[in-house]
Amino acid sequence: MSFPLICQMSIRRISQRAKDEKTRKLLSRIIRVDQAGELGADRIYAGQIAVLGNTPVGPIIQEMKEQEQEHLETFNKLIVEKRVRPTALLPLWNIAGFALGTNI
Ligand SMILES: [Fe+2]
Repeated sequence: MSFPLICQMSIRRISQRAKDEKTRKLLSRIIRVDQAGELGADRIYAGQIAVLGNTPVGPIIQEMKEQEQEHLETFNKLIVEKRVRPTALLPLWNIAGFALGTNI
């Protein structure tokens, strides 16, 4: 059975929209997870600095934390630009990341 050309074009357009929406949702999930990861890294380093900040490794940890802050800023901008909902676990991750960092 063959659909008329106008039906085939409509099906193709709908199919493309569905693919675009699927891609947008996947990109949103990636940005959400990556932003959480960058926040976690930042908070882990904050915890390590709280424990080791005044030791010889303190400046190295601080430098690594600053790199993670740049990454976090990038994903914070993407969250806004792409209108992505941040993970609901951010407040928990904020505390858990810090606690993990102090557990060295
Ligand atoms: Fe990072």
